[in-house]
Amino acid sequence: MANLEELLHQRLAPAFETVAGAPVDPVIRRSQRAHFQSDAALALVRKIGGNPRDIASRVVEAAQLDDLCSSVEISGPGFINLTFSDEVLARLLADTIGDERLGVPQAKAPETIAIDYSAPNAAKEMHVGHLRSTIIGDAAVRLLEWQGHTIIRQNHIGEWGTPFGMLVEHLLDIGESEAAHELSVGDLNGFYRAARVKFDADETFKDRARKRVVLLQSGDETTLRLWKTLVDESKKYFMTVYGMLGVRLTEDDFFGESYYNDQLQSVVDELDELGLLRESDGAQCVFPDGYKNRSGDPLPIIVKKGDGGFGYGATDLATIRHRLRNLHATRLLYVVGLPQHQHLAMIYDVARDARWLVPPARAEHVGHGSILGDDGKMLRTRAGKSVKLVDLLEEAVVRASAVVAEKNPELDEEARAAVAQAVGIGAVKYADLSTDRTRDYVFDVDRMVSFEGNTAPYLQYARARICSIFRRAGVETPLQGIEKLVIAEPAERALALELLEFSSLLAEVSETLEFHKLANYLYGLASAFTSFYEKCPVLRAEGDVKQSRLALCDITARTLELGLGLLGIDAPDRM
Ligand code: ARG
Repeated sequence: MANLEELLHQRLAPAFETVAGAPVDPVIRRSQRAHFQSDAALALVRKIGGNPRDIASRVVEAAQLDDLCSSVEISGPGFINLTFSDEVLARLLADTIGDERLGVPQAKAPETIAIDYSAPNAAKEMHVGHLRSTIIGDAAVRLLEWQGHTIIRQNHIGEWGTPFGMLVEHLLDIGESEAAHELSVGDLNGFYRAARVKFDADETFKDRARKRVVLLQSGDETTLRLWKTLVDESKKYFMTVYGMLGVRLTEDDFFGESYYNDQLQSVVDELDELGLLRESDGAQCVFPDGYKNRSGDPLPIIVKKGDGGFGYGATDLATIRHRLRNLHATRLLYVVGLPQHQHLAMIYDVARDARWLVPPARAEHVGHGSILGDDGKMLRTRAGKSVKLVDLLEEAVVRASAVVAEKNPELDEEARAAVAQAVGIGAVKYADLSTDRTRDYVFDVDRMVSFEGNTAPYLQYARARICSIFRRAGVETPLQGIEKLVIAEPAERALALELLEFSSLLAEVSETLEFHKLANYLYGLASAFTSFYEKCPVLRAEGDVKQSRLALCDITARTLELGLGLLGIDAPDRM
């Protein structure tokens, strides 16, 4: 099924072309005055002269929109205002009743997409930045997979850099079993801090740490075994966090920095052969064009350090080459905090200079802001420590449980626990995804779990309420035998229009990965449903009208369920 914009586009594009004598994009968008509008006649005047209102009416004449629109108006200086007829809305919606995909088409050109997300650092607590990356990345995985793309999940955990020298030495100091114990109970920060304190205070420890990194990166067996203890315990811990969050990341998705170790030297060699490598302060560097530090000097990506070690830049270069050359990905997404924007832009530029990244393949930084505490600063505990993610998630579930119990005292304990889980975790995810990802937001559990406002529980509840309409009516879903809908009341029309916008909205979000637009869409849909349900009786209606309204309820519930599902949020049937 074509979406509404497409239907208009298919008619207006050729009509504009007839009038202009050359292809013109009709630029169709939602309108305040009508359903849609096209303003392209205005811009056309500069090309072909004449009067824009006159051009607009010639276009309308040529487009022959009578079978789609109940009204086509030329307004103002030459806008074309377009309103779909009720019959067309009814017919298009009727098609979605028997359709699992709710009228949303599969991607026309499926791609292989590598998504780099979550990426916490081993032997260190996951922080709220990793929470954002995990939630946004998971939504990207779900949406793009559902559109029919092949998704490669890449959890680029940090486990190969300089800190691992110090961490392995600290592990030796306290003994392997004690270290394993500390890490397995999730005291990652304690372990890291203790190592750091020694590193800063004790020159001999510092020296041992430096030597240990070199041993590690050159493959010394004992060092590797000790290092693996650290990394494995951390991975186990990360898996419990992913389990709580209900994201799709698995054990098999860990492709940490170390995965690229044996490709690093070949990156150096290849860049050297291409003439891109330059020595600077003893290190091997690449200087992509146009990046300067504060004093105006060119900024490097350090590929190989003076002491022979490799760092974050080198691994990222190996990673991008691997994803393009070996995994054959054509779209690379990096879900990483905004402070790393310049680093990633430089990596992409080097990859372009090296001809690894060649269009149509593209790399995109899906950047995100921070999560703040209610003081407006980076989220910290009262004692000033960084907040543990699991604590935040547990708190959200506990609060959700209280709110759910109050809202629905009839739920038994087991059902309540399940709903509280869906609501608490859903609330945390939704608060994140409903904010423009480039902005910071305040972590406010009370607001997140509230049933009022633009929150997960509000949307989950809107859907659960529809489920209860069907239970009360004794009607089984999916509905059968409904061939035609009746759209006659303004609230029906508004709801129908909203429902029919789902597919173009998803197409947009799969390009921009601006999940707040999907969230806002769902919120708008739930509000349109609420007005519809207030104004149009469903169970008390009769005949075709009743059937049609039940169908509107069903399509709304399924759209909410699917939309929330694409955001990684469960929708309980009762709550
Ligand atoms: N581990 C890094 C951090 O915690 C994020 C890695 C992002 N991915 C990448 N390919 N650089 O900041």
